[in-house]
Amino acid sequence: MKGNYEHYMQKEIHEQPDSLTTTMRGRLTSGEGGKPKGVVLGGLKEHVDTIRRSRRIIFIGCGTSYHAALASRQIIEQLSGVPVTMELASDLLDRQCPIFREDTAVFVSQSGETADTLLALEYAKKRGALCVGVTNTVGSAIARGTHCGVHINAGAEIGVASTKAYTSQIAVMTMIALALGQDSISNREMREAIIDDLLRLPEKVREVLKLDEAMRELARELVNEQSLLVFGRGYNYATALEAALKVKEVALMHSEGILAGEMKHGPLALVDETMPIIVLATRDAIQQKQQSVIQQLLARKGRLIIVCTEGDSVKMCPSGKAKVIEVPHIADCLQTVVNIVPLQLLSYHLTVLRGFNVDQPRNLAKSVTTE
Ligand code: M6R
Repeated sequence: MKGNYEHYMQKEIHEQPDSLTTTMRGRLTSGEGGKPKGVVLGGLKEHVDTIRRSRRIIFIGCGTSYHAALASRQIIEQLSGVPVTMELASDLLDRQCPIFREDTAVFVSQSGETADTLLALEYAKKRGALCVGVTNTVGSAIARGTHCGVHINAGAEIGVASTKAYTSQIAVMTMIALALGQDSISNREMREAIIDDLLRLPEKVREVLKLDEAMRELARELVNEQSLLVFGRGYNYATALEAALKVKEVALMHSEGILAGEMKHGPLALVDETMPIIVLATRDAIQQKQQSVIQQLLARKGRLIIVCTEGDSVKMCPSGKAKVIEVPHIADCLQTVVNIVPLQLLSYHLTVLRGFNVDQPRNLAKSVTTE
């Protein structure tokens, strides 16, 4: 089943060009053959108008699925005009968060069986919200219990660390954003550009997978570190959280994803010449702000690894005093899919080098079916 790969996680990382293709198959029209560019999501068709009229959309999930939702929040808000709030399922239940009939609650779960997410679904249903599922498992409890939804079709994910499901969840939620914005004339150009880039996404991921050896090399440099910080902002705040989760979950190394805008409110105190820090600084609407973060970190002798867009190395680090990883460019809302791939590879190689179990990390289960 693992083919030429040593571990499922490794196989699933490398499978992403194919899993993304499967996720989008039959759902996007490219504008050829006289059909307009657009998206068709069969499982949501009847409910799109209700979602557009919602007072708010609440994204609910745990772990990586929560991060995928966070990565998609901005594009859903932008294209639908509906405010999106984020909820970790356990916290929503602990707080007994108010939910209303006018809300749409979107439950994101690879397995479709996560206990907290499932309990949050029962909770939201009782309060009359429209419940939408985004799952990878046909017939799962969440797929059955929601009013409507979209399967991500990423194929079985065996490794406990979620990789290909994460990227497919983002692709699906981007398509949901496109479906919600479909009637707006003012967004048309933007929607069409995103559709073009969704269709290019598998190829971009194939390209970025070529960084495998470079990430193994980086893992060798970091193998004995105690801690690794990851700074991101905008769409890439989710990338920072997800990269840090991967590193702690499988490589059993402390890692923290940090919103770069919060840097001066505490995390800056951790910066010295020894602490490795990954900074996500690919080309997007807020790249200039990340440029300034890099300068401030370098001024404090930070030990930086910068992830930037191909051709931007000198612009992002004119002094050359940082390690740079260049990745292909794509639409802002999809850049997080490209950016997470080298960091998935890094966590994989760190785990192998540190001698830990890649597919069955200590104390963790693939599906968390108890609260
Ligand atoms: O099956 P789910 O997506 O609901 O699972 C949620 C989390 O338990 C899961 O994403 C977990 O964080 C992963 N092991 C992370 O790689």
